[in-house]
This record gives sequence, C-alpha cells and structure tokens, in this order.
Amino acid sequence: MAELAVNVDHIATLREARGGIEPDPIAGAVIAELAGAVGIVCHLREDRRHINDRDVRLLREVVKTKLDLEMAAAPDIIAVALEVLPDLVTIVPERREELTTEGGLDVAARVEFFADLAARMHENDIEVSFFIEPEHEQIDAAVEAGADIVELHTGIYANAHTPEDVRRELERLAEAARYAHSCGLRVTAGHGLNYVNVVPIVRIPEIVEVSIGHSIISRAVLVGLDRAVREMVGLVRLGFSSS
Ligand code: PXP
Repeated sequence: MAELAVNVDHIATLREARGGIEPDPIAGAVIAELAGAVGIVCHLREDRRHINDRDVRLLREVVKTKLDLEMAAAPDIIAVALEVLPDLVTIVPERREELTTEGGLDVAARVEFFADLAARMHENDIEVSFFIEPEHEQIDAAVEAGADIVELHTGIYANAHTPEDVRRELERLAEAARYAHSCGLRVTAGHGLNYVNVVPIVRIPEIVEVSIGHSIISRAVLVGLDRAVREMVGLVRLGFSSS
C-alpha cells in the first residue's frame, strides 16, 4: 500500500498573493498530518515565491511525521538544508522562469557532483531522493550517486491526453519502478497527480509513496468554501441582529 506525503507550497502561494500571514502553511501541515499524511513536503525555491526560510524552520519544529525539503542543488539552498536538517531532501531541477518543476533531474550528467551532495546530506543524517524521469540511465546514476530514494516524475503521465499515451506512460513508470526497486532504491512518485489519475500510480506495487500538492490545495479551497461562506454569512447577519 502506498502512502501520501502532502506538499504545502500552494498554501504559501495563496498567502503570498497578499503578502500577509494567511493562510499559514504550518497550520496546513498540522491538519494534513492529522488527516493521515505520512510526510510534509515543501519546496524552498531560489526566488522564494511561496515557501520562505522561516516556513522551513517552523515546519522543522512542527512536523511530526517526516519533513521532505524539495530543493535545487544550489549553494544557498544547500546551506539552509544543512542548517534546518530535514528528514529528507528531494533534489529537483529548477529554472526561475518555470511555473512549476518541469521535468526530472539529469543526475547522469553530473554523477560526481550529486554523489558529493548526497554524501554531505548523509553526514547529517538526511536521506536523499532524486526526482528523475522514469529512465534506467537516471536510475543507475541515482544508485551511483548514493540515493536512498528516487521520486519518479509523473508529469508526462498526468498531462497525457489519449488513452494510448496514458497507457504507455504508466507502463514506463511501472517498469522504472520495478527496476529502481531491484537496484535497492525506495520508489516514490509525484507531480501533477490528482483525484482522477492517482489510483493507477499507487497500484504500481513498488511505489511506496506519492507526493501531492496542487490538486489537494485546489480541492481544499472548493470543499472548504461552503463552510467558510456560511461562517461569514453568520457573522454578517449577527452584525445586523445586534444593532
Ligand atoms: N514532486 C516534486 C518533485 C515536485 O516538484 C512537485 C511540485 O512541487 C510535486 C511532487 C507536487 O506536484 P503537484 O503540486 O503537481 O502535486
């Protein structure tokens, strides 16, 4: 059975839309844990567009399950990781102009660099996951670099339009999951997963965890809206009845 790690970035996106203090990703993390998430994920981007350094420090204090810091292999972010000491880092590629992470990390292109990074994390008892495309070359490179986990990129699967494309991508993910597991890696998956497309992914036996953010926060806005409006209607009417 697979488990769910919840990415709280987009609670912070909503906060940053006003530059204020709500909604608070830390409170969201607590609620996600109470609801059964086995881990909390946040991506400290170089441009700090949603999660900021203070969020990461507070999440480290508050998260009781497992804190996964998603990050680019950039010197200032590595320094934050080594200071905050998350349970796990997930290394992702990052381009400033992208809306979201657009593809897997090319571990194979810089195995020595990533091996050195993984070793620094391991020295500090931080596990290392590489976010990669479901390809043997990247899995082999992740093994060589000393990864504990590979997170398979599900974005191409999530964006596939035709049933044939969906089937092909699922098969690619299942095959890569089998291979990575046979290499001794733990296998997780994420990106673009939602309430419609997640089930076939968690049926892949080697995938032990999925990391999901945007679709959960989007749904929370809608399923929570009825209650939020009712509570405000109550206050607005109370204002009338007491005057
Ligand atoms: N996994 C990784 C490596 C990611 O970069 C992201 C996006 O931050 C996710 C999972 C979650 O993706 P989504 O927000 O589409 O669920």
